[in-house]
Amino acid sequence: MKILLVNGPNLKALGTREPAIYGHETLDQIVSRVKAAAAATGVALDAVQSDIEGELVAVINAARGVYDGIVINPAAYTHTSVALRDAIAASGVTTVEVHLSNTHKREGFRHASLTAPVCVGQVMGFGGAGYLLALDGLLDVLKTK
Ligand code: DQA
Repeated sequence: MKILLVNGPNLKALGTREPAIYGHETLDQIVSRVKAAAAATGVALDAVQSDIEGELVAVINAARGVYDGIVINPAAYTHTSVALRDAIAASGVTTVEVHLSNTHKREGFRHASLTAPVCVGQVMGFGGAGYLLALDGLLDVLKTK
């Protein structure tokens, strides 16, 4: 089983970026935790981060036939990107959306997700631990497929 972890714009700055909202964990620390959890269940996990919408679209398109599932934090593109939504839908790869913060407790423009309707599920509000929950949920869905 192969899983792709995709992180969108500004998530490289985790650790120093608005820690009251996103916590103190760095992206490297989160990725290491998710990789370790995946490895413990015999799952290979690759991770990619980009600030560029077109790069994220290309990565998702290229995942078709290579990865069994995707965990994605589309970050700000969650709320704006029809292109990312279309890429997830077109790839046909089972995808779970994750957010560190509970976006429903925040500004109104963060309440809508263009990408969630093409994902199998969404996890939010648990910081870095949410990535582990997203992986767990994704693997469970893939096992029963
Ligand atoms: C985020 C929430 C988004 O609204 C924001 O633009 C981000 C991070 C989160 O993980 O909480 O960059 O996706």
